[in-house]
Amino acid sequence: LPALPPDRLPGLILDWYDRHRRDLPWRMAPGVPSDPYRVWVSEIMLQQVRVETVRRYYGPFVERWPSVEALAAAPVEEVLRHWSGMGRYARAFNLHAAARLVLERHGGRLPDEEEALRALPGVGPYTAAAVLAIAFGRAATPVDGNFERVFARLFALRDPLPAARGEIRRLAATLTPGERPGDYVQAVMDLGATVCVPRRPRCGDCPWRDACDARALGLQDALPAGTAKGPRPRRHAVAFLARRGGRVLLRRRPPRGLLAGMLDLPATAMRDRAWRRAEALPDAPFDAAWRRVRGTVRHALSNFDVEVAVMAAEADGGIPENGADLWIEPQDAGREALSTLARKLLAHAAAKGRPKAAR
Ligand code: ADE
Repeated sequence: LPALPPDRLPGLILDWYDRHRRDLPWRMAPGVPSDPYRVWVSEIMLQQVRVETVRRYYGPFVERWPSVEALAAAPVEEVLRHWSGMGRYARAFNLHAAARLVLERHGGRLPDEEEALRALPGVGPYTAAAVLAIAFGRAATPVDGNFERVFARLFALRDPLPAARGEIRRLAATLTPGERPGDYVQAVMDLGATVCVPRRPRCGDCPWRDACDARALGLQDALPAGTAKGPRPRRHAVAFLARRGGRVLLRRRPPRGLLAGMLDLPATAMRDRAWRRAEALPDAPFDAAWRRVRGTVRHALSNFDVEVAVMAAEADGGIPENGADLWIEPQDAGREALSTLARKLLAHAAAKGRPKAAR
């Protein structure tokens, strides 16, 4: 097996990082200290979201709210509006609530203790460790999927995920150096994202190639084990497009759960079986001659795919008041806190939904 002593590993990957690090908007130039608030915002945004997506949201967000104080003072609806399209909306709620707590409990300065960080909504072990390492220079180890893959290979850990996770964490933590831990953990993230990729890792470019047990054993394509994904579940829903005088009806979703707090079309629940018309109609916002719009909208949510049928109707009489309801001009939807799914539903209804006579 490779004979490279483990204490050489941090230096090798830091040298590699200094030459190959990705230029990302939340990264400071080498030697420039990071603003803990900005690190925190970036790590919340990056939770299970692609770097390329976060790139588009991060800059405008921290420009609009450059500090804990600014974010805490914002109405949460504004924060959701800026989050619109990035998914996992509960994160935006939590970030906003946490900013208020940081202001109350810590005078607006992000705490540099794991326990105090973990007490903030939306901050779990991964995010706490990332903030400690990147913003505060602590030897903490944020283990995400990239980390798991890199270390499962480096140590040729053959137990399948997720059972191997504890062992991976333990081993990974033994390597995190006291010097430049923030650069080190981001170096491992970059290595996992660009070199030690899930399929066909580019071992020739890897600073750890001479230390990697998986490579020595020819197992780099087989590890980590247990990551093969089954088919994603598919769920079904019916959404209701209500029109009145050129406006459409949107409804704010509850602040917890799926698409938390976002504006959406009124809809049935998402369930495993498709809905029959008579089953769906009790969830319509009012009684009317609801017509099925041709086709369906498919959308990938965090943990499943959903296929949504749309029913449309014109509201003529009075309709029941619902405090979560909002009638908007379709052309104003772009500025509202809509989920990507709601945007797709509006576009679908606009393309397919008009009866011929009304065109
Ligand atoms: N993914 C999560 N945090 C990251 C970071 N700081 N840099 C790159 N990718 C990341």
